[in-house]
Amino acid sequence: SRHWCVVPAAGRGRRFGGEVPKQYLRLGEKPLLLHTLERLAAHPRIAGLMLVVAADDAGWAQGLVEVLGKPLLRTCGGAERADSVLAGLRALPDSVGPVDCVLVHDAARPCVRPQDISRLLDLAVPAGGGLLAAPLRDTLKRADAQSRSVATEPRESRWRALTPQVFPRAALQAALADASAAGIAITDEAMAMERAGFAPLLVEGAEDNIKVTTPADLLLAEFLLAKMER
Ligand code: C5P
Repeated sequence: SRHWCVVPAAGRGRRFGGEVPKQYLRLGEKPLLLHTLERLAAHPRIAGLMLVVAADDAGWAQGLVEVLGKPLLRTCGGAERADSVLAGLRALPDSVGPVDCVLVHDAARPCVRPQDISRLLDLAVPAGGGLLAAPLRDTLKRADAQSRSVATEPRESRWRALTPQVFPRAALQAALADASAAGIAITDEAMAMERAGFAPLLVEGAEDNIKVTTPADLLLAEFLLAKMER
């Protein structure tokens, strides 16, 4: 079956710096955001895209109503990523039923591999939901306020959460709304689902599915995409 994908792109890119939010910067011949949208739309198991942009950016590529033949809808995001994802879920077409699984993928991750999306869908959809993730490779330190290392966290069983993440639409929407009402800062969909008592499946994905956060990441993404497209 095919799934809709919510693409949060309403961040202001404060850590990146600069006037223009990072998702609109050019990466090779097109904006970062368009690379991500095309990569998703090209996947045979993605039915359509729900792009979530900041109210100020509502005019971004306004004429763009489909990408590679897949419908592109858009809605306005909120103050935090979780607010943007919730807005995107609420704006999905009625054809997406409550138990249908929906993907969520960061606009800032243009390098996701199609095979990883396929594996995620094959494994996590039957498991009730899950996410791409990468096992932690470095030793993890806990710091005090003076940046002194006070403890070393066990590395086994620690993963870095990537996207896409995939969950049934209504369950995810309820989990995000609930966390928001409780005033809890939610940094990914899996966190909201864990809070609702569900254990999302971790599906190992490629490490180079980076989230472009700094100018150096943009160079790395350009290199990775050029390599993948060859
Ligand atoms: O800020 P961070 O890098 O975690 O953002 C991850 C993704 O979430 C980015 O694609 C960003 O545009 C999006 N986002 C959003 N709404 C916000 C903040 C971030 O859609 N308020």
